[in-house]
Amino acid sequence: MNQVIAVTDLVRKYSLGEVLVIALNGVSISIERGEFVSIMGASGSGKSTLLNLIGGLDRFDSGKIMVDGLDITSLDENQLAKYRREKIGFIFQSYNLIPTLTALQNVELPLVFSGTPKKDRLLRAEDILRTVGLEKRMGHRPTEMSGGEQQRVAIARALINKPSIILGDEPTGNLDSKTGEEIMELLTWLNKKDGLTIIMVTHDPEKARYADRVIQIKDGRIVG
Ligand SMILES: Nc1ncnc2c1ncn2[C@@H]1O[C@H](COP(=O)(O)OP(=O)(O)O)[C@@H](O)[C@H]1O
Ligand SMILES: [Mg+2]
Repeated sequence: MNQVIAVTDLVRKYSLGEVLVIALNGVSISIERGEFVSIMGASGSGKSTLLNLIGGLDRFDSGKIMVDGLDITSLDENQLAKYRREKIGFIFQSYNLIPTLTALQNVELPLVFSGTPKKDRLLRAEDILRTVGLEKRMGHRPTEMSGGEQQRVAIARALINKPSIILGDEPTGNLDSKTGEEIMELLTWLNKKDGLTIIMVTHDPEKARYADRVIQIKDGRIVG
């Protein structure tokens, strides 16, 4: 009904010299607007490949990905960059923050690229850092924060351009279980509060429980 993502018969192969790896072997999934979905599977099952393709970070061999009625295969590099910048927020296992920048500077960085004036950038970055509970850490650099705090900065950065879709690749993978649960609660809250569509990849059933729906992937195929 209110479908936001439709993936059809997606195939992604990697060739390593003589060896051909079929990372995705005909994957089809459909995701509704405002859904919180987790994609679960063992290491090497194709989770990151699938997420990266939905996020426009990589090209595929065949199949189709429609996001908000847009066929992302049809986009050129510039359009794809715009798609990633405006529609998608990424969160990674290793946070991927810039070590020399403060929390505030990391979060405002995407707005520097989109040409937002300094004053607006600061107001918006501060506001989002407050939303994720980091009002007291704005001037801290990544090395001066805990893993959970760094992931909150990364979530704030992912939200700064007001994306409608958040893609998380094992976002709690480097955190202890209590901190991981706090991050899952934050994501659940954002999903409910703002109607954000969230797709999170994990191999941890405890974390997958937070989602409305769990999609199982095995050897590059959806199995449940
Ligand atoms: N850049 C790459 N080059 C070659 N093989 C790759 C590459 N990325 C992933 N693969 C292979 O594709 C399969 C799926 O990988 P991936 O999507 O990273 O799995 P997961 O995230 O579920 O652990 C694995 O067999 C992996 O070795
Ligand atoms: Mg992975």
